[in-house]
Amino acid sequence: MRSLHNWGALVSLFATLAAAAEQLVFPADFTPPQVFKQSNLLRTIDLTKPYAREIIAAVVENISKQPQTRNKKGSGEEFVVTPVEYNDDSSLQYYRILFEPAVPAGHSITLQISLAATDILTPVPAQVTQVEKQFLQWTGSQYALSAYTTEKQKTKLKLASNEVPDFTKLEPKADGTEDPTKSGNQFTFGPYSVVEAGKAGEEVTLRFEYTNPVIKMDRMERLIEVSHWGGNLAIEERYWMTNNGAKLKEQFSRVAWAATNYYNPPTTAIKQLTFPLSVGAKDPYFTDEIGNVSTSRFRSNIREANLELKPRYPVFGGWNYTFVTGWNHDLRDFVRGHKNGEDFVLKVPFLEGPKEAVTYKDLEVTIVLPEGATNVKYVSPIPLVKEEQYLHKTFMDTIGRTAVKLTAVNVVDEQHRKELVVSYHLPQTEALRKPFVMFSALMAMFTLSWIVSKIDLKIGK
Ligand SMILES: *[C@@H]1O[C@H](CO)[C@@H](O)[C@H](O)[C@H]1NC(C)=O
Ligand SMILES: *[C@@H]1O[C@H](CO)[C@@H](O)[C@H](O)[C@H]1NC(C)=O
Repeated sequence: MRSLHNWGALVSLFATLAAAAEQLVFPADFTPPQVFKQSNLLRTIDLTKPYAREIIAAVVENISKQPQTRNKKGSGEEFVVTPVEYNDDSSLQYYRILFEPAVPAGHSITLQISLAATDILTPVPAQVTQVEKQFLQWTGSQYALSAYTTEKQKTKLKLASNEVPDFTKLEPKADGTEDPTKSGNQFTFGPYSVVEAGKAGEEVTLRFEYTNPVIKMDRMERLIEVSHWGGNLAIEERYWMTNNGAKLKEQFSRVAWAATNYYNPPTTAIKQLTFPLSVGAKDPYFTDEIGNVSTSRFRSNIREANLELKPRYPVFGGWNYTFVTGWNHDLRDFVRGHKNGEDFVLKVPFLEGPKEAVTYKDLEVTIVLPEGATNVKYVSPIPLVKEEQYLHKTFMDTIGRTAVKLTAVNVVDEQHRKELVVSYHLPQTEALRKPFVMFSALMAMFTLSWIVSKIDLKIGK
């Protein structure tokens, strides 16, 4: 089981709302009571992107004498899923799913558990030349790790390509057939009969060609600024991007690059990112450490708004690129007001991001509301590790703007475009603060210049 170290810790949960804030603490010697068994289980692991996407479909039977409300680790969309803390030294992370209503004794329920694991695909070899193929290696377990006994199971893997130079060959199965079986880019381990709770089986690896870059955002900061005074929603995103693919073995050759670029083959370097923005996006910009990057293109019409960004250089494996991009929207496309004119609801994607497959290690989303906004409430579409509210002060602000900073980790591109909902109260008097401050400032300047013009600065008479 120790070989599965990174598993639990790297799991990022989908579709659990407020549940993420809660933590269950169990004794260090916790083992799940054996009140369930799994009569059938199918694990599907998708390795076509630079992270592992796993779906476990299981028929779970209550084998105790009582109705049962609790189940195994994993994540569900309709059930409340809560991480369980029980022993800091254990590499195993349990998640509790509450069944409501409870499953009666002797009855079964069919579950689908979805999870994603980041950073578990490694380039092997770790270095390649500019024109060599890139291969990624996945390491996992023969069995689906479970808190309960599983009577029948198999695992299907879908790889990014048919080219699989190495994979673990297990003992042939009882009927003499080979394990795994291969069909194109699909591998199947099992079926296996009775596997006891907590048994992971053999460690298995597969190494396959991966023709795309392994795009990882080490950090991304997204700033969403609401201005009632300007009727504007401004979005700015700062990216610290890395290509986590195989590192470049030799010096980068611009000549070889230009030659291959001519017929535009697939490349493991990051050449372009395409951001499908919300319709109505305008005034986009794209800058990096050097300044404005002119190799961007923005195509916008009534149906779509695509922002294509080309980094200043192709980002090969092991290389980094940091950049900033931003755009504006009409506020009325995102904010609805109550008829009292003082209560508002903002609905905006928590994350937009490029259409290319990416993962985010540290993600910080900040929403800056107008000055004087109070009673701020929000619902995040993805689990958070930190939430803060503070006052954000900039030029021409008096009391500072109410800001909410939300932090998430190990986020994958499937979470793009999920809606963040923020509600707030903004008294009408506050809505006039900015124009009042601007007006007062102008008046003060005007008065000052008038006084100055009246002072007699001539020396002597
Ligand atoms: C930055 O580059 C864009 C092209 O992507 C260009 O339209 C814009 O005028 C440039 N801005 C500045 C300040 O140079
Ligand atoms: C790229 O960024 C990562 C994470 O920020 C850092 O550890 C690494 O040293 C950087 N690599 C280079 C070549 O600058």
